[in-house]
Amino acid sequence: MNDLLQIAIDGPASAGKSTVAKMVAHELGYIYCDTGAMYRAVTWAAIKRGIKLDDNLALEHMLSQIKISFAPSVKGQRVFVDQDEVTDDIRLPEIANNVSTVAAQLSVREALTKRQQEIAINGGIVMDGRDIGTTVLPDAQVKIFLVASVKERALRRFKENKAKGIKVNLETLEQEIAERDRKDSTRAVSPLVQAADAIKVDTTILSVEQVVAKIMKIIQKKAKNG
Ligand code: CDP
Ligand code: CDP
Repeated sequence: MNDLLQIAIDGPASAGKSTVAKMVAHELGYIYCDTGAMYRAVTWAAIKRGIKLDDNLALEHMLSQIKISFAPSVKGQRVFVDQDEVTDDIRLPEIANNVSTVAAQLSVREALTKRQQEIAINGGIVMDGRDIGTTVLPDAQVKIFLVASVKERALRRFKENKAKGIKVNLETLEQEIAERDRKDSTRAVSPLVQAADAIKVDTTILSVEQVVAKIMKIIQKKAKNG
């Protein structure tokens, strides 16, 4: 494959986007960009500064003053807000439960979309999020929309938390995920919606490896047929 493609992977929480996007990027020798981590980092910074999470102007001002950056590592992508490493903190429930409010603000979406488009400009990238195929990279050559039942997605998060020693209730997790889906899908700006030209992959009963194989097949077909 000579052409460096832009590959967009969107879908709801815990559909497996980052897990499979990372693996697909690795197989292709592409860069992986987790746009959810950017929204989480902005949420972390706003909470730390005591900014109201739906204050569009205050968030815009904050964004002009902070720098969100990424560094690759063997464990995956590390995330920084200025000098502070926030890689682990942005995965905490406090961030997960507030990020959709911050991500619905126009100033935040505009700033992060611009940054994501700059990162992807030369192709050779797998980017995952909610609006990559619709808004950030509308011309991406490959667009995947990953889905799975809410029950299965809650179970996946439950297992992840358990492995990290974090105690969570499965039903609560299911409710939180459903609520985040609702907020992400109904917001006015760039809601979570499948792009018309995206291919839907239901991962409910598939393993990570099966999903990766399916996506690689779609990419190879695209690269062959243009
Ligand atoms: O990993 P998980 O699916 O839980 O979420 P994430 O990808 O880390 O994204 C966290 C939140 O950021 C989402 O629930 C959305 O509110 C927001 N987000 C967004 O609005 N647009 C994106 N392109 C990526 C994330
Ligand atoms: O990025 P997103 O929130 O969509 O999902 P993730 O952070 O990649 O988390 C998905 C979790 O489900 C990970 O623990 C995966 O190992 C697991 N999983 C999956 O991603 N895909 C499957 N087909 C089965 C399990």
